[in-house]
Amino acid sequence: MSETATVAGGNAAEEIVQEAGRRRTFAVISHPDAGKSTLTEALALHAAAISSAGAVHGKGERRGVVSDWMGLEQARGISITSAALRVDYGGCVLNLLDTPGHADFSEDTYRVLSAVDCAIMLLDAAKGLEPQTLKLFEVCRARAVPVITFVNKWDRPGREPLELLDEIEQRIGLRPTPLNWPVGIAGDFRGLIERDSGGYTKLRRTPGGATRAVEERLGAERAAEVEQEAWAQAQEELALLGGIGADYDEASFLAGVSCPVLFGAALPNFGVSQLLDTLVGLAPAPGAQPDATGVRRPVAAPFSGQVFKMQANMDKAHRDRMAFVRVCSGRFERGMVLTHAATGRPFATKYSQAVFGAQRTTLDTAFPGDVIALVNAAALSVGDTLYAGPKVAFAPIPSFAPEHFAVARALDAGRYKQFQRGIAQLDSEGVVQVLSSEVRGQQAPVLAAVGPLQFDVVKHRMEQEFRAPIELSHLDYGLARRTDAACAPALHGLSGAEVLTRRADGELLVLVHNKWRLRVIKREHPDLLLQPLLAGGTNPDE
Ligand code: G4P
Repeated sequence: MSETATVAGGNAAEEIVQEAGRRRTFAVISHPDAGKSTLTEALALHAAAISSAGAVHGKGERRGVVSDWMGLEQARGISITSAALRVDYGGCVLNLLDTPGHADFSEDTYRVLSAVDCAIMLLDAAKGLEPQTLKLFEVCRARAVPVITFVNKWDRPGREPLELLDEIEQRIGLRPTPLNWPVGIAGDFRGLIERDSGGYTKLRRTPGGATRAVEERLGAERAAEVEQEAWAQAQEELALLGGIGADYDEASFLAGVSCPVLFGAALPNFGVSQLLDTLVGLAPAPGAQPDATGVRRPVAAPFSGQVFKMQANMDKAHRDRMAFVRVCSGRFERGMVLTHAATGRPFATKYSQAVFGAQRTTLDTAFPGDVIALVNAAALSVGDTLYAGPKVAFAPIPSFAPEHFAVARALDAGRYKQFQRGIAQLDSEGVVQVLSSEVRGQQAPVLAAVGPLQFDVVKHRMEQEFRAPIELSHLDYGLARRTDAACAPALHGLSGAEVLTRRADGELLVLVHNKWRLRVIKREHPDLLLQPLLAGGTNPDE
């Protein structure tokens, strides 16, 4: 079928293209404590989605509406679930997909990045690139997601701006192209110079930072007078930048070769409106997405969307299961009956919602780039496609390289059936990857996770939801590689290695103690297939 035959006709197509063009769907990637929650609140505040900062999932005194989706989440005071925040700004609809803000990883964090068109890499001005940022950045690189860098906490003592740029270039190979430049060293933040216009915005703190920062535009002469030394130094640095060609360039940004850089401080709301303007002006709008066969599906094609995250148990009263779907093409109308590509069965969307923190609102219409949350979605799994009209399916979302492994056993032998059902359900939702082997038997599946927090979620849900409490025995493996049936017997016999089958897709995975053991195996058995899985970031031996 030709592309044009699948596109909505006339005005309808025009509206979809126009609406898609207004969408900016992005995530913030950062190391814990770099300020992601604070920045999310500041972005929402600027875009006037919430009346004062502190309503997303703030910490300490700023703690406002804390998500109460899971008792576990509450007990730990962290956000396990991902909220999708949707705000209007500058004529655009910004969809911010939240990634869990904890040192602990889960696959969810990575899957969110499969649903965005752009990522904001948030750095702490004093710390620069930190391990979690690097891991998440690698996923952006693997998925060709363009990155905008926001250097945060400029109001606190930190590093030299040029040194931070150098670190970005040296450690991740992205050419930094600053869009603005700070006047005043980190800890003495006076204001920001826009590089393209040369205009200066002086920033004045507002008490507590809980309202929009007061910004004042000053001409160059006046700025030089007011800021003196700090102004002269910034001008010197700008001249240097001009000399090394660190200017914004759209093609290399979209190709993931360069990254625009902005300086600011989320807590006092400095530089946040510049970040919003950059998202509106430079971040890519949703485009045609390739389906599983590689054919690009235009945004104006009939509705299609892909599940990138499943969330269970969000509402204790209903025990519902929610699927987060990114709209890839077409116009979504609540109530439409879609087809579930994996089963060919109809799926009713009467209860679609937009989710922001723990609040839900009914969502009536959505366009490419938007996220819809579908309740009662027990039949759906991560990666599934829903569509209207002619059949389409998107390629599955790759599962990431697990680094934590544990054997699960039912504590109560009488609840074995519930145990099996629960493990199968959590596998299909993608909460953990479930591996098994003949040697270990079906009673003792191996759970594989990107971060150990995923195990806590499994334990909690097995007990609360399936009434089949489990015990977990951690295994002394730290990485997994893909292999094949021909190599499996030889690998299985080696010490410090074990071959298991991933239930979801039948792939054979070999678990290895650590990178040193893997190196030895590779050296001694160069013929055996040991293929890296999609990086859960590190692929520590490579
Ligand atoms: P996260 O979600 O990335 O983990 O970070 P979060 O926003 O919770 O911020 C971590 C800490 O850094 C918080 O302080 C927060 O107030 C502070 N912070 C974030 N952005 C800025 C900034 O631009 N300037 C300054 N000076 N601080 C910033 P906390 O003491 O851990 O928590 P809180 O009690 O202040 O909320």
